[in-house]
Parts: sequence; C-alpha cells; structure tokens
Amino acid sequence: MIQRANELVDIIRKSKEIHIVTHIDADGITAGAIASETLRRLGKKYSIECIKQLDEVVINKLLTENHELVWFTDLGSGISTQYPEIKKIITDHHECPPDSDASFHFNPHLFGRDGSYELSGAGATYLVSKALDLKNRDLSGLAIIGAIGDLQDRKFCELRGMNTEIVKDGKDAGVLQTIKDIRYFGKETRPLAKFLQYASDPLIPGVSGREDACVALLQELQIRLKDGDAWRTWVDLDKEEKRKIISTIIQMLLSKGFGYQAASRVLGDSYILCKEEEGTELHDAKEFATLLNSTARYGQYEVGLQVCLGDRGKWLKEALNLLSGHRHNLVEGLQFAREEKIQKRTHLQYFHARDGIRDTIIGIVTNMLLNTEDVDKELPLIGFAFTENGDVKVSARATQSLVDRGLDLATVLTRAAKELKGVGGGHNIAAGATIPKGKEEEFLQMVEREIKLQLVS
Ligand code: C5P
Ligand code: C5P
Ligand code: ZN
Repeated sequence: MIQRANELVDIIRKSKEIHIVTHIDADGITAGAIASETLRRLGKKYSIECIKQLDEVVINKLLTENHELVWFTDLGSGISTQYPEIKKIITDHHECPPDSDASFHFNPHLFGRDGSYELSGAGATYLVSKALDLKNRDLSGLAIIGAIGDLQDRKFCELRGMNTEIVKDGKDAGVLQTIKDIRYFGKETRPLAKFLQYASDPLIPGVSGREDACVALLQELQIRLKDGDAWRTWVDLDKEEKRKIISTIIQMLLSKGFGYQAASRVLGDSYILCKEEEGTELHDAKEFATLLNSTARYGQYEVGLQVCLGDRGKWLKEALNLLSGHRHNLVEGLQFAREEKIQKRTHLQYFHARDGIRDTIIGIVTNMLLNTEDVDKELPLIGFAFTENGDVKVSARATQSLVDRGLDLATVLTRAAKELKGVGGGHNIAAGATIPKGKEEEFLQMVEREIKLQLVS
C-alpha cells in the first residue's frame, strides 16, 4: 500500500496543474480539503469541484477542460480503467472489481481491505498526503471526520483497520483525542431531552422518539435540564450524572430483552478535535461531519471546504445557518417517509419520496428510517427520490447482520443500475444509484432477484 501511495506521490510531484473532483458528503468535503491543502503546501496550481456522482455529464466536462491531472477523491474507482485521455489519480474507498487496479488508483479494496469501515475517501487521500510529507499529519483530524461522516465506526463502535493508524497520527500531531463515552449524536450541542429523543443506535425502548418520555426520565434521575437560561447538553453533565443515564439506558435495554449486544453499543469511542472549542459543532467528529453534510448537499460546498481549511468567521457562520436548515429537512424528510409508508416485498422494503425529499439527503433519511424502532431490520431498505434532471435517485441501506449473512448492496445496485443504463455503486452496507424515471419497478425486481441469490448462497 505504501508503495502505491508513493506512485501517486510521484505523479502529483510531476504535475503543475491539478483539478480535484470530490463527492458532496462529509467524507468527500474532507477528502477535497486534504487534497487542496496538500497541493497548496506544495505550491501547485489547483482547483476543486464537488459532485453528486461521477456520471457522463461530469466526464464530458472534464474531457473538454483538458487538465494536466485530475485527482478524484472519495469517488472514481468505477472509472479507473476508462477514459485514458483524462490523466488521473484516484483516492477512493468504494467497491471496485479487481480489474480496476491501476498504478494511480489508491483504494483499500485493491489491498484486500474493506472500504466500508477500514478506510474512508478522506482517509485514502490523507495517506497519500502523508506519503508526500509527514508534516501533513496535522490533516489527520479531517480524515477522521470523513470516516465518522461515513459511519465507519458503526460496525465495532470504534474505528478499526487502517483508520487506526490515522487516529494515532491525529493523537501524535495533537489534533485528536479519543474518549470512551455514550455514542449518541449531539453530545456537544443538543439539549439533553432532544439528545435522548433522537437516540437511535441502540434505540432506547420507550424513550427514543418521545420527547415527553425523555423529559420524564431525566426528571426521575434528578438531572436538571437547564443551567440558568441555557439548556444543558451531555458535555455539561458531571461524571455521576452521565453514569446514572448510561446505566439506566443499559438496564432498560437488558430488562426489555434487547440483549447484551444492543446494550454494549451504548458506549464506544468518541473522536474529539481537541483544538476546537468544547460545546461547539466542531469539537466532536460526528457533529463536525453533520455540519459539513449541511453544506455541499445543498450546493454550498465552498462553505464546508473553508470550514475544513480553518475558517472560523464568515464561512462558519454560514455553515451554522445551513445546519439549521439541514436539521429541519431531516426531521421533515423522516416524517414524510413515514407517511408515505414503507412497502414490503419478500427480499426488500422500499418507499418512494418523489419530490418530497431532496435526492442529496435521501440516503441519510433512508439510513435514519432503517434505524427507527418500528422498521423491519430483516430486510434492506430502499429509498427513491426524483432528481432535478428528471431521473430517480436510489439509496439502499442494510444492517450489519444482513451484510454478515452475505448481502452486498454495492454489487446489487451496480448491476441493476447498469442494466437500466444508470450508474450505481457504494459499499456492502450502503449503496446508491441513479436510474431513469419510470424504471423503478423493473429495478426493484432485479434488485430483489440479486438479494435473494446473495442471501441463500
Ligand atoms: O459515499 P460514501 O462512501 O462516502 O458514503 C458511505 C455511506 O455509507 C454513507 O452514507 C454512510 O451513512 C453509509 N454507511 C452506513 N453504515 C455503515 C457504513 C457506511 O450506512 N456501517
Ligand atoms: O447516495 P447514497 O448516500 O445513498 O450513497 C450510498 C453509497 O453509494 C455512497 O458510498 C455513495 O458514494 C455510493 N454511490 C455510488 N454511486 C452512485 C450513488 C451512490 O457509488 N451512483
Ligand atoms: Zn466516502
């Protein structure tokens, strides 16, 4: 792997002008930020764009632009052997067939590693940046935000695989700390009752999703909700208060028969960006990633990029504005999907949001939905939404247990989308595609056939 990273380093060193193409999610933005900062430090001429997916429109544009080198980050594995006219390097972590191995393609899957949890797009980009110059180890914090944004800590409740090396770099460079803590989202900025209300992995039986039950639970444990006028958050609590809440949740899970496995998921590693201020959206990697998801997914990638590159003034203010819109859209999107109702089939379940949920957040909503109490965990969930171009965006999500039984959504969606002249890809546990409108039923039938084959064989 180091040798491959060095091959990419040589290509970068020899190029004067480099164009970065990256993905619109938190992993994509952090990958793009790492690549741009690396090139800035090298004194290269560079430019960057953030895209929803690598389709023909993007490729045709690149073909006319004639860049000396294109650096694809957090995407690109699907075209590594195509378009030789585009001189390129790729730092990606999406599934790819063995024939996509090329001297300019750095991807954990090419080295027998699993890109859904061992290394993210930002992580792959970071490892090349570090191979260029060890001083770039200060960029490891961004790589961890990318990995957390892609939920790479979900499988083991901590980062594993090649991510471990990046965590170590972050600690050595003084930008990262890890602490064992409760795993729910919003420890730094969510008022306590909301923090518990949105708790989803594991769900708190009888409490998640119900604000009144959260308030009642906190009152029963004699935990103040406010300090003066300010709502208290998880990080405002003292050790004893935290202990009381954690042990109560664990007891609730065990007494309701959720088992040791669910209960053990309450605690895990938290990744803290220790140079940032506590109690802000930037201190905990999960919250930082969500802040970034609020930008490029709404066409404002420059905002997220500048925050990654260190702006704490006007760009951060803009990001925080976008964050409140994003939160609102997720709550509404989840509500909308629930009302649409999930349709069950033998080997999958799906819902169609049409114009009700933006195509850029349908994946997040599908994921959240699969994590709610009343949704079947035995079937993968597929969400459809219309795109601005008149196509259909597909997002598919599975549970770890389905993956352990042999499910690989990336293969399923890549094949089915290709049949319909669309594009698809991703990871075993989460994949996406774009297909023509009106082909949804045909797509579902193909997907169902593939899933059946994977789960019985
Ligand atoms: O495009 P990309 O690789 O960056 O995104 C990874 C996707 O996989 C994210 O949407 C993330 O939520 C999803 N994922 C998941 N469960 C995991 C790992 C990743 O849903 N255990
Ligand atoms: O868009 P969504 O969040 O559902 O994507 C899930 C995963 O599938 C992500 O890793 C994304 O990069 C990947 N994907 C892809 N090709 C597409 C759409 C999504 O590789 N056309
Ligand atoms: Zn990614």
